[in-house]
Amino acid sequence: AIYPVILCGGSGTRLWPRSRRAHPKPFLPLLGDRTLFQQALDRVADPAMFAEPLIVAGQEHTGLIAAQAGEHRLIVEPAARNTAPAIALAAHLLPRDAIMLVCPSDHHIADEAAFKAGARDAAALASQGHLVSFGISPDRPATGYGYIERGEKLAHGHRVVRFVEKPDLARAQQFLADGGFVWNGGIFAFPVGALLDELAAHRPDMAKAVAQAASEGVWDGNQFLPDAESFAALSAESVDYAVMENTSHAAVISAEMGWSDIGDWSSLMVARGADQNGNVVRGVADLSDCSGVMVDTDGPRVSVVGIDDVIVVVDGDEILVVGRNHTQAVGKLDGASGN
Ligand code: GDD
Ligand code: MG
Repeated sequence: AIYPVILCGGSGTRLWPRSRRAHPKPFLPLLGDRTLFQQALDRVADPAMFAEPLIVAGQEHTGLIAAQAGEHRLIVEPAARNTAPAIALAAHLLPRDAIMLVCPSDHHIADEAAFKAGARDAAALASQGHLVSFGISPDRPATGYGYIERGEKLAHGHRVVRFVEKPDLARAQQFLADGGFVWNGGIFAFPVGALLDELAAHRPDMAKAVAQAASEGVWDGNQFLPDAESFAALSAESVDYAVMENTSHAAVISAEMGWSDIGDWSSLMVARGADQNGNVVRGVADLSDCSGVMVDTDGPRVSVVGIDDVIVVVDGDEILVVGRNHTQAVGKLDGASGN
């Protein structure tokens, strides 16, 4: 079986005001009625293929997790240390010879069958010792993703020549022009033992502290509480920088599964799909002579007349009005950083 590890953390400030510290992006029903976190669980809810999932999350979100998913095995992080410690901690609680499937809970996957086929291919590659990424065909020089250069063809994918996390714009443009690069989708299939060995090779201090946090941690019912002191001593780093950029055992599969990381309001608007006028409405709104407008309101009626390419979000006591091409800047607003 494949062991799913569901990651939920982060703040998702670019989707403010809907996403806030108390209820960040993974816990919102942004597409459909299930939240992104619930959808991540749904995708691996097939006992013929997957073992029981292990969730890794911060202590401030345990209430949301119980409310949205009921009882699950859960690693409770006393502090946020990014994904490398979270994944390594999970690895310590799994059989060393197992394959773990790391599933972020901050993106949307339209084609569940393609996801499962990808998970099968990735697990097959991982069982040969590879650290496997899910590759997504890039369509723009986005700077918020990892870029993977594909090398020699393997049975189910390709060897990775290099992995570059979050390149600047010039490099991202160069990668697209060169061709042969895919985005890292953020989902990984790792052989548990190899992941821990690679972390020990490239980040020995982190590997030691995680091992200690795991061995001195305790189970409290379904919740694993790592040793708080060793965990606090960890430096925060993502698995992309700590392991994927450094390992020589990386492979990548191609995963065309309708992936979208809905990183901001304009990509959410695209994922939701517009009506014949190019508009998207959630909640009560009245649009006339508008195109390319999205309204998302949790209460008040929003009326918009004669404006194009604007997004209006109403969430309780906060209102956001942003141009469609400026949604990347939302995270920097005072409101977004204060919430
Ligand atoms: N438990 C836990 N603890 N989860 C975390 C933490 C943490 O401290 N930090 C982040 N996460 C979760 C997030 O909720 C998300 O589901 C996932 O781990 C990835 O973290 P992000 O912070 O969203 O990473 P990113 O979007 O900047 O980059 C990653 O994803 C991209 C694709 O969406 C990288 O893997 C990139 O290479 C990749 O292209
Ligand atoms: Mg992300």
